[in-house]
Amino acid sequence: MKVLVIGSGGREHALCWAIAASPIVGKLYCAPGNGGIADVAECVPVKPLDFDAIVRFCRDQAIDFVVVGPDDPIALGLVDRLTEAGVKSFGPSAAAAKLESSKGFTKDLCAEFDIPTAAYGRFADAATAKNFARGKGAPIVVKADGLAAGKGVIIAETVAEAEAAIDEIFSGRFGAAGAEVVIEEFLEGEEASFFVLCDGTHTLPLATAQDHKRVFDGDKGPNTGGMGAYSPAPVMTPEMCDRVMREIVEPTVKAMASRGTPFKGVLFAGLMITKDGPKLIEYNARFGDPETQVLMMRLKSDILPALIACHDGMLDKVSLQWKDEAALTVVMASKGYPGDYKKDTIINGLKAASALAGVQIFHAGTRTEGGRVLATGGRVLNVTATGKTVAEAQAKAYRAVGLIDWPEGFCRRDIGWRAIERERGKA
Ligand code: AMP
Ligand code: GLY
Repeated sequence: MKVLVIGSGGREHALCWAIAASPIVGKLYCAPGNGGIADVAECVPVKPLDFDAIVRFCRDQAIDFVVVGPDDPIALGLVDRLTEAGVKSFGPSAAAAKLESSKGFTKDLCAEFDIPTAAYGRFADAATAKNFARGKGAPIVVKADGLAAGKGVIIAETVAEAEAAIDEIFSGRFGAAGAEVVIEEFLEGEEASFFVLCDGTHTLPLATAQDHKRVFDGDKGPNTGGMGAYSPAPVMTPEMCDRVMREIVEPTVKAMASRGTPFKGVLFAGLMITKDGPKLIEYNARFGDPETQVLMMRLKSDILPALIACHDGMLDKVSLQWKDEAALTVVMASKGYPGDYKKDTIINGLKAASALAGVQIFHAGTRTEGGRVLATGGRVLNVTATGKTVAEAQAKAYRAVGLIDWPEGFCRRDIGWRAIERERGKA
């Protein structure tokens, strides 16, 4: 069959890499793709938000199945458009994707269906929001309601910081995403990401991961889209996964179906494992980046039939096998990220690095020109490795990083530290 993947990041490279290995794929396209994706798929110059061009491409090329990677085309209704055009796809409708695109929507759903999450309030004006924050005291979490490219969450250590955050969100800095503010109780515990395929009715848990959001070693500095990740997350024991399915994911899937907006696609639950049990921090309605890179490295089975089953409502007929190994990915970014950085700097040494056993390098922001690989984005490479333990996967990934010659790039040196400390404790 002919498959089209939408997106251009490391997540889409990992998805294309996994899908390209499927025996049922005849031809794989990626729109728009990147320098690394071009090794496993034909990259086509179509933008993820140009829905007309995507539908036209699907018709012209007789595409059988589309996999949508990023959040914005999903939230803006690409899956709905494809459905109207008679094209099968993987991903939720815009109505179901409100689980990600409106934090207030999700908090209200949790309240209605008794799903454990941080206590909260929803506000459309600054004065009432500030009153609420003052009443609760610090630390407290202030969030823009809509998609804000990962920048709409402020953990306020003082009430004054909370007030400043409320003013900032209502100032219009986040556009329509900041029309409402959600204020939440600060949760203490260990964070984990949990991924579950859904076909509207049935669910199939994938695997767990932990990521490092801060830019510098020791989890310091500003938040980023993610500087590295590993799977599995040690805190997500099989019992904890069952509990999260029972208390959080299954009630959500049932609620969405009962409201007439069944969730199809991958539900990515951001969790805080607190001393009172798991609590939902947020949902994403798509695969995580860079978590998908480690998940795909651990998956033994063909991913494509599972993605198609999400569309067809046949997920109860699918089971997936996972490697017992751990996987870890180190993000290499352009110096300056998440602030300003130089573009089109040259990367060498990728061949030698990816020739190491158990290593895959996924590209997140590159293009090729005359046989050279150039960095085009903030997050640029995901150097990914598997190993018997997280420590072994980490050692392999950093060995590969050492072979990459990119003076304008940098990475964290401690990805996986929490899991490795646990492994040492056990040893
Ligand atoms: P979100 O975009 O909602 O996942 O928030 C981004 C990050 O902020 C999360 O990964 C957490 O590290 C942190 N965070 C969000 N909400 C809370 C909360 N209620 N308590 C503690 N930390 C939070
Ligand atoms: N790595 C976090 C995300 O994809 O949102």
